[in-house]
Amino acid sequence: MVDVVFVDGLSKVFSSLRAVDSVSFTVGREFFSIMGPNGSGKTTLVSMISGVLRPSSGVVRIMGFDMWGSGGEMVKARSLVGYAPQKPPLRFDVSAYDNLVWHCLIRGLGLVEARSRSRELLELVGLGEHAGKSVWKLSGGMVRRLVIASALVGEPEVLVLDEPGSGLDPGALDSLWSVILKLSKGRTVLFTSHNPLEAERFSDRVTIMFKGRVAVTGRPLELIERYTPNPIVYVTLASERIVEVEGCSLLGRMGRIAAYEAVDQSLCVQNLLNLRGLVEKIEVRKPGLGEVFKKVTGAFMEVEGR
Ligand SMILES: Nc1ncnc2c1ncn2[C@@H]1O[C@H](COP(=O)(O)OP(=O)(O)OP(=O)(O)O)[C@@H](O)[C@H]1O
Ligand SMILES: [Mg+2]
Repeated sequence: MVDVVFVDGLSKVFSSLRAVDSVSFTVGREFFSIMGPNGSGKTTLVSMISGVLRPSSGVVRIMGFDMWGSGGEMVKARSLVGYAPQKPPLRFDVSAYDNLVWHCLIRGLGLVEARSRSRELLELVGLGEHAGKSVWKLSGGMVRRLVIASALVGEPEVLVLDEPGSGLDPGALDSLWSVILKLSKGRTVLFTSHNPLEAERFSDRVTIMFKGRVAVTGRPLELIERYTPNPIVYVTLASERIVEVEGCSLLGRMGRIAAYEAVDQSLCVQNLLNLRGLVEKIEVRKPGLGEVFKKVTGAFMEVEGR
């Protein structure tokens, strides 16, 4: 069986910076996320997969067609992908409807078809009532939905969403994802996120990126079970001095907040409680992809919405 998305040894070098370094993975008919902190190379990677940024080296195939191959292959590969970029490709002084008509015309639709398809897409993403509003009057969640509608113009097999949930409050994030789940039936969805909770909730598989490289790829729950089987204790220390605690293994720290893995749960919590004056706050959490990230990279990843 041909993979829907096949990425092999993909790299991008900007001057001396290796923004993406030898990334390889395959994606089937599934929700696949690329999770990593700011600057880890997510946008650079999905731009190359979507056919908008030429790789320095490596291969991208969409349903067997070489995205950066000869003319015919490239045209076919591009027609299979709908790309919703991180920076909205919209005119903010123009209505949602007119923006979509424009995207349809760029995709080669005639004017009559472009108009009816735009109306249909606006309904599909729940923006029917807002069609006539200029983009700058829409909320952040509505703008994300409009960008996704523009990615759907060509009825793509693969929907690539760069940071769909970025900057949205929990309610807007839920309603955006209910739209994505509704319209993605039968499609492959490849999305990026710097929010471990979003990646954990909405992906069948996730690849964790750090400094341009893939740290690990797998099913969220399997990665959590493999790398962080123990509860995590977040401790707000009274000073920035690091504290070693028996029964706890230090995962990482950011300022006065330290994350410990409770290797021996009762010993760890008891010893932290005994620290008294050194500790301001203790919070025990179920581990998630944020903790897997810390474990596999040694770095601290801030979790949105916690
Ligand atoms: N056109 C460019 N020229 C030079 N450097 C670039 C260019 N585009 C990206 N970079 C650099 O490549 C690295 C990866 O950037 P990229 O935008 O892919 O990261 P990201 O993971 O998408 O980050 P974010 O979460 O902030 O969106 C960064 O160091 C960035 O500054
Ligand atoms: Mg990005």
